[in-house]
Amino acid sequence: MALKSFTPPDRILMGPGPSNVHPRVLEAMAKPTIGHLDPKFIKLMDEIKDLLRYAFQTKNELTFPVSGPGSVGMETCLVNLVEPGMKVIVCINGVFGGRMKNIVERCGATPIIVEAAWGEPISAAKLEGTLQKNNDAKLVAFVHAETSTGALSDAKSLVEIAHKHNCLTIVDTVTSLGGVPVKVDDWEIDATYSGSQKCLSCPPGLSPVTFSNSALDFIKSRKSNVQSWFMDINLVTSYWGSSSKRSYHHTAPINALYGLHEALILLQEEGIENAWARHQKNSNIFIEELNKLGLEVFVKEGHRLPELATIKIPEGIDDNEIRSRLLNEFNIEIGAGLGVLAGKIWRIGLMGYTSNENNINSCLSALKQILGK
Ligand SMILES: Cc1ncc(COP(=O)(O)O)c(C=O)c1O
Repeated sequence: MALKSFTPPDRILMGPGPSNVHPRVLEAMAKPTIGHLDPKFIKLMDEIKDLLRYAFQTKNELTFPVSGPGSVGMETCLVNLVEPGMKVIVCINGVFGGRMKNIVERCGATPIIVEAAWGEPISAAKLEGTLQKNNDAKLVAFVHAETSTGALSDAKSLVEIAHKHNCLTIVDTVTSLGGVPVKVDDWEIDATYSGSQKCLSCPPGLSPVTFSNSALDFIKSRKSNVQSWFMDINLVTSYWGSSSKRSYHHTAPINALYGLHEALILLQEEGIENAWARHQKNSNIFIEELNKLGLEVFVKEGHRLPELATIKIPEGIDDNEIRSRLLNEFNIEIGAGLGVLAGKIWRIGLMGYTSNENNINSCLSALKQILGK
């Protein structure tokens, strides 16, 4: 039997990512492919780097999208800034801090854990205490916006404490970039990675990263080779670096980069402060209405991510049944809880292009019908 071309259903993506992709991004991605060393493409790469500097609020020269999803951005930052035998402070308040710990161990380094309960932010006092006990630590890594719980940590304070103790910092901004302030230069973040599929309204598959000069100095003075060929910053900069002479490193995902470029143009048109304000305003409206339905937010006020509401599943409600009815009857995808929160919370995203009043109203009306409110 001959199979037919795939036609995806028209979903409202209100999970923890991917979010809905802006039509202008999809249009951009459908344009003809050109070569990855074509002078016109090189010019586009330079524009993407400039636009990413705006998104990250940085002047860092080394700012580019890694070819790969957020996890590849995470590994890129870690494998370049971790050497075997090093002590690395890893803050864990959900799934993604745990993933960082795993990578640190694979790099042959020793992770020292600063733990917070799932749903809580990372405590600055706890980080300070751990650094006082481990004055030979060289690096602090943490997640700014923990997508598994919906909690936002205070990146500025955590970076300040890390620097006071002579540590470099890696900050995961996969879910925060474009949704809440991420100020790489003001907060003096040394390395950060994000993802294309959340508040930037792109399909998944690209991970914007940026490295400070202090991070680059560390990489240049490493005693050991970076353990990954693909992610070694010393090698990938032959393609993404500042030189006007770009050379082959890997074949870049050309059309995906057309898409990222268009998404970043959209962010520039809206203005990043306006994008942050839109996410906050829509979150306030959504949460107020959810409360009226008797649904409770999992994370305490003041630490909640505006782009991702985590909702306690009421007693006696079948998690799977509600999520499949939302998907099958209303075309709305929401996310399940991960790890220890499986079956306990729903994760409802209002990220990027998805964050608008129409989607809020559709989701509320569907929930009302399904929950019989
Ligand atoms: C906070 C955080 N870090 C890292 C990742 C990994 O990104 P990806 O799934 O694109 O590899 C995710 C994905 O959801 C995330 O939310």
